[in-house]
Amino acid sequence: MTSNGFKLEVRSTGDGSFSLFSPEFGEAFHSSRGALTEAREKFVEPAGLERLGRGSSLQVLDVCVGTGCNTAALIEACASRGLELHWWGLELDREPLAQALASPAFRAQWQPGTLARLQELCSSQGMLWGDARLAVQPLVEEQKGQFDLLLLDAFSPSRCPQLWSVEFLGALGSLLKPEGRLLTYCSAAAVRQALRLAGLEVAAIEAPCGLQQHKQDWSGGTAASPSPLTPGPRLRSLTPMEMEHLGTNAAEPYRDPGFCLDRKTILQQRQQAQAKAMREGNVEGTSAWRRRWGLAGNHQ
Ligand SMILES: C[S@@+](CC[C@H](N)C(=O)[O-])C[C@H]1O[C@@H](n2cnc3c(N)ncnc32)[C@H](O)[C@@H]1O
Repeated sequence: MTSNGFKLEVRSTGDGSFSLFSPEFGEAFHSSRGALTEAREKFVEPAGLERLGRGSSLQVLDVCVGTGCNTAALIEACASRGLELHWWGLELDREPLAQALASPAFRAQWQPGTLARLQELCSSQGMLWGDARLAVQPLVEEQKGQFDLLLLDAFSPSRCPQLWSVEFLGALGSLLKPEGRLLTYCSAAAVRQALRLAGLEVAAIEAPCGLQQHKQDWSGGTAASPSPLTPGPRLRSLTPMEMEHLGTNAAEPYRDPGFCLDRKTILQQRQQAQAKAMREGNVEGTSAWRRRWGLAGNHQ
């Protein structure tokens, strides 16, 4: 049972790796392509670990640790490159990690030693349990500008807008070293715009092979940094279509000053701000942008 009394459902994903579904948030923990595939394609590979020499240290914050899949994938990538991992994690609920660690399928996914290291990290002082908006505060006070990598894997903005607000993304951004990177699977215009408002440069994570042929799956996520991001493995600049997306109604950011608003209030206030911007003629409607670029679906 989760802290709110919901029962997480075990799911197997496209690559056979272990995942969960949250009835509370109405959303899967990972994309249907696979938890492990997603961890590698959207978090480990765009991290640019090849920039670091053997023996370097990497200071990382995993935002929404969940089952620990992203951290475990990073543990293995760091081990194979001889990098020393300094790790912090934020997570509301102990249940996803407990279920993963108890699952033979999850355990079978990893090299010897990875699970022991994952357990060690998640029971260390670096594991900050609780609402990430509050749990991140000590890091913001004491470790500004010290992180190489932030992995942001919250439920989607419409399900969990608390973790995609201008204010929360601003707090995360303040933790980054000048060349540090925040990585997320999310390509929403509101999130990219909030990252820009936080003073970060934004690039796209390449869509996984096979998805690129569908125009609506134009991107595999977003990378952000205080410094311009050089296109490289899995990273590219935003296309003209994506830049125009940031001038549409969809780019109205989520706001949560004071880190205390609930989901419903954040969504309602954003809707009101969107309606006002449309009334005042300040932004283009997202559907007009979608038609112009020949996109199907609903990209908010
Ligand atoms: C998409 S899942 C994370 C998946 C995870 N990275 C993994 O590999 O399993 C989202 C996670 O966010 C956590 N969460 C939801 N609201 C939160 C909050 N306000 N603060 C911290 N964690 C939160 C959920 O408990 C869940 O584990």
